[in-house]
Amino acid sequence: MSANESIWIRATKVSKHFGAVLALEGVDVSVRLGEVLACVGDNGAGKSTLVKLLSGAHSPSAGEVTIDDKPVTIESPAKARQLGIATIFQELALVENLSVYENIFLGREIVRPVLGLPILDRKRMRDRVVQLIDELGSHIPSPSALVSDLSGGQRQAVAIARAIDLETKLIVMDEPTASLAVAETRKVLKLIEQLRANGRAVLLISHNLNDVFEVADRIIVLRRGRKVAECEKSQTDLEEVVSWITGAKPGPQLNTPDYIIPHGGDQQ
Ligand SMILES: Nc1ncnc2c1ncn2[C@@H]1O[C@H](COP(=O)(O)OP(=O)(O)OP(=O)(O)O)[C@@H](O)[C@H]1O
Ligand SMILES: [Mg+2]
Repeated sequence: MSANESIWIRATKVSKHFGAVLALEGVDVSVRLGEVLACVGDNGAGKSTLVKLLSGAHSPSAGEVTIDDKPVTIESPAKARQLGIATIFQELALVENLSVYENIFLGREIVRPVLGLPILDRKRMRDRVVQLIDELGSHIPSPSALVSDLSGGQRQAVAIARAIDLETKLIVMDEPTASLAVAETRKVLKLIEQLRANGRAVLLISHNLNDVFEVADRIIVLRRGRKVAECEKSQTDLEEVVSWITGAKPGPQLNTPDYIIPHGGDQQ
């Protein structure tokens, strides 16, 4: 199998400017199914801008995105979902005073007709949530538990369960462990591993290089809007990645030829 075959999403030379500010410039990113790609970089490097382009919150100023080699336009968050991209923003956007299952089905509740009227099918929603939580190997006391009673890691699990309960292929996570204690962080890293084991693609944005080194397969480094390094995790170490982030050392671009040239590229 060539390195290209399993690439699901590919952004080529994407740029985004806000007036005179070039938040992202000519960045190439691709993610395979069954892979965790970590994106790291200092504050203002362009990480969240990349997340927003992939989640349909912003449209690129230049560049192209393909899914399964077909060009796509991710013009809205709804379109991103439809294409199979789910984004978990740092704020999670869960409703505190609703239960786990109500959060997971918010806006797409399952109903059944009773005497011709649509009635919420709470049992089916709860059963589905038990399955989802099970798939994630996560521990949530009950689908009916209130989100306000959950820990930070459990909330991440609810957000992930909501994200994967559609035909989601790519899960984009912006700083999922930023506000979590050590034990909770471990659980979220386990969830990420579970997503990969289930054949999904994960794009993980994180400031925590220990987390990155624990779960990522590949790492890209953004600096001042440009991709300055790309490397298999096994080919580098934490210190070196720090040197790429700060600009102390130039970083490598990934050296696999068919990685750089899409599908034989110029031969087509
Ligand atoms: N909506 C916007 N309008 C104007 N400038 C923006 C906007 N969004 C981002 N920027 C600028 O683009 C650059 C990249 O920002 P971005 O939020 O992508 O960085 P980041 O890598 O996510 O940083 P952090 O680690 O602090 O979250 C920054 O200079 C930022 O000020
Ligand atoms: Mg950010």
